[in-house]
Amino acid sequence: MADVTVTEFLLFHQKKSPHATGKFTGLLYDLILSCKTISRRINKAGLLDILGGTGVINVQGEAVQKIDDLANSIMIYRMERSGAMCAMSSEENPDLIRIGPEFPRGDYIMIFDPLDGSSNMDVNINIGTIFSIYRRPEGCTGEVRLEEVLRKGENQVAAGYCLYGPSTMLVLSTGQGVHGFTLDPGVGEFLLSHPDMKIPEQGWIYSCNEGYREKWDAAARECCEHFHKAPSSKGGAYSARYVGSLVADFHRTLIYGGIYMYPPYKGRPEGKLRLMCEANPLAFLAEQAGGAATDGHMRILEKVPTQLHSRTPLFIGSKKDVEAVGEIYRKHAAD
Ligand code: AHG
Ligand code: MN
Ligand code: MN
Repeated sequence: MADVTVTEFLLFHQKKSPHATGKFTGLLYDLILSCKTISRRINKAGLLDILGGTGVINVQGEAVQKIDDLANSIMIYRMERSGAMCAMSSEENPDLIRIGPEFPRGDYIMIFDPLDGSSNMDVNINIGTIFSIYRRPEGCTGEVRLEEVLRKGENQVAAGYCLYGPSTMLVLSTGQGVHGFTLDPGVGEFLLSHPDMKIPEQGWIYSCNEGYREKWDAAARECCEHFHKAPSSKGGAYSARYVGSLVADFHRTLIYGGIYMYPPYKGRPEGKLRLMCEANPLAFLAEQAGGAATDGHMRILEKVPTQLHSRTPLFIGSKKDVEAVGEIYRKHAAD
C-alpha cells in the first residue's frame, strides 16, 4: 500500500535531520496526538457544550472561547508529559509554562496558539492549532529563563499547524521543506497527502481585513491598492479572500500563492498578530516553501521578541507579492 503515515515519514526523516533525535520524534508524536484529540472534540462541538465564550478576557485582551480553554488544556496536559519539553508558552497563558518536577524534562521549548481563529468556531468555519519548536540554547541548565525563550524565529527547529477544516490537516516543517498530511478519521492516522509543498512565486489572491482601511497608514493603504491594480499571476486582477482565521488564510496562501497582510493600524501600532505563536511558525513554513514573510521592513524570522506576547505586522506569502509590499514600504520610509 502506497500510503505513508506521518510516523513512517518522521522516522525516515529522523535519519537525515541533525535535530531529529528519538526524543524530538517523540515530541512530534505527542504533539500530533494532542492535535488529533482537539480535532475529535471540535468535530463534535455542536453536540457538546463547548461553543461560545467563557466570559474571561485573556492576556491579549480578547474574549476566551470555551474551545480555546479546552484546546489549551489538551496541549499542556499532553506536552508536559512528553519528556521532551523544558518550557512552553501559550497564547492563552500570560507567563512561561514551566514543566513541574513530577514530569521528566527535555531540551525543547514549544510556543503555540492552541486554537487560532476561535471566533470562527461558532459558525463552523476552519480553525487550527499553530506551533513553533525551539531547542534550549546550548549550555543552559536549571529553570528556563525568559531570555532563553525570547529568540529570533530563525532558531526554530520545527514549526507547523493542524487545520481543522473539511478534513483535518497537519502541515509540518523540520527544516527540510514543508509536508502536508491529511487525517484519515477511520484509522486515526495522518497520511502524507501534500509532499514538499511550494508557494507559487506569485499568486492571484490578496487577503486582508479591509474594514480597517481608514485606520491604516498610507503605506498599508497603498499595498492594498497595489493588489487592486497590479496584474496577478493569471494576468488579470487579484481576487480578495479573507477567512479571518490566520491559519486558514495562510493554508490557502501556501497552496494557491498570493499574500496575506495584517498591517498595523491606529491604536495597534504593532498590529494584532503575535510574533512568537503565530507569525514565526508561519514565516518558517513560508520560507521553507519558497515564499517570504516580513513586517513590511524586515524578515519576520530576524525579529527579536521583547516579550512572550510581542505582536508584529505580517505580510506573508508568494515571494514576488511580499517583495512588492517591501518596495512600497521602502518608498514611504524614504518620503
Ligand atoms: P485567535 O483566534 O488565536 O485570537 O487569533 C485571531 C486572529 C487570526 O486568526 C485572524 O487572522 C485575526 O485574528 C483576525 O483578526 P481581525 O478580526 O482583526 O481581522
Ligand atoms: Mn491566533
Ligand atoms: Mn488562539
